[in-house]
Amino acid sequence: MDNPFNKILGSLKSGFAKRSQSVVGIDIGSSFVKVVQLKKKGGRAVLETYGELALGPIAGLEVGRMTNLSAEKVAQAVADIFREANVTTKESAIAIPLSGSLISFVEIPYLVEKQLQEIIPIEARKYIPVPISEVTLDWWIIPKFDSATTEVSESEKSSITAGARVQKADVLIAAIHNEVLMKLKSVATLNSLNAGFFEIEVFSTVRSTFGHDLVPTMLFDMGAGMTKLSIVERGIMQSSHIINRGSQDITMNISNSLGVSSSRAEELKRLYGLSQTETEEGKVVAEISSTVLEYVFSEANRILLNYERKYNKTVSKVILIGGGVLLKGFKEAAEKNLEAEVLYGDPFAKVEAPAFLTDVLKEAGPEFAVAIGLALRRLQELD
Ligand SMILES: Nc1ncnc2c1ncn2[C@@H]1O[C@H](COP(=O)(O)OP(=O)(O)OP(=O)(O)O)[C@@H](O)[C@H]1O
Ligand SMILES: [Mg+2]
Repeated sequence: MDNPFNKILGSLKSGFAKRSQSVVGIDIGSSFVKVVQLKKKGGRAVLETYGELALGPIAGLEVGRMTNLSAEKVAQAVADIFREANVTTKESAIAIPLSGSLISFVEIPYLVEKQLQEIIPIEARKYIPVPISEVTLDWWIIPKFDSATTEVSESEKSSITAGARVQKADVLIAAIHNEVLMKLKSVATLNSLNAGFFEIEVFSTVRSTFGHDLVPTMLFDMGAGMTKLSIVERGIMQSSHIINRGSQDITMNISNSLGVSSSRAEELKRLYGLSQTETEEGKVVAEISSTVLEYVFSEANRILLNYERKYNKTVSKVILIGGGVLLKGFKEAAEKNLEAEVLYGDPFAKVEAPAFLTDVLKEAGPEFAVAIGLALRRLQELD
């Protein structure tokens, strides 16, 4: 999707971007850093390298645990994964975590661009629970769709552009905590990166995992400490939520119930997941996993239903991304609990890669959706 935030956040592009044809997308999650390097060849995006590094151990915790590290430590982690994955370019783009941003959907009168510049900061004050001086604001008018066609209707278009008298516009307002942005900028500076832009992670994911599909779709991103749910229609985010449960909750509960270390619990979680097993350990892992997931699925259902009621539309598809969805049996459980077609995000399908990697990349895809989406946009910028 077009990035709504290039007005402010895309201003860092330097004049050196053309020097290298390779770009790297950097996704600094709470538990892992992921990088994907792409280059352009014959008009296609080609995968050069990718990799991830657990942040837990840097914070004195286990692999898979959530962290809150200083810019210096994160910068070191980025340098480490660059070395390990053999990243060779400084042309980069960095994800802004959804948790570092506040996204509001606001209805305001249609106005010309100039008036919007004035009215949006005033409107934003009503929705943003922190002082405006602490955030960087950006916004995007969500086109309204004519239900009979797949296009933005002509009357809508002209009202958006001409600021004509049409009543209301839905506007997506994003407020990014300055502190979060500053930290990411420091990480870039400390690694001498040429960060072309910073983008809220959901927008990167939409770019890498959505096709031409127009149906309302839920993007389901389960990380370590939280699960992020967004509803996207025609490539445009329509609603976004954070649930304070993630895959780490499963690990911690396993560790407590079985009296094993967190790292052993992490191993057991990955080994058994929700799969049926004869062993006592396996049963406990499956039970704990399903208890945590039940809560997440019930929240997801609530969000789906609210959306369906509000817009009188069915959300018929769910795309799974994030490390947490790699749990064995996750997709089947999601299918059972959510009334929609459930698919794993397959972002590597958008890039060219050696055939022998096909299966590996399909499996790793959900974890790298954000990093690939960033790299794809950064490549476009080099055109
Ligand atoms: N194969 C697997 N089976 C089960 N869980 C897994 C597997 N691989 C990774 N995880 C879990 O996924 C979590 C990490 O997911 P992810 O990499 O999406 O997190 P993140 O991007 O750092 O988090 P966030 O986006 O919430 O900040 C960890 O808790 C880890 O234990
Ligand atoms: Mg993540």
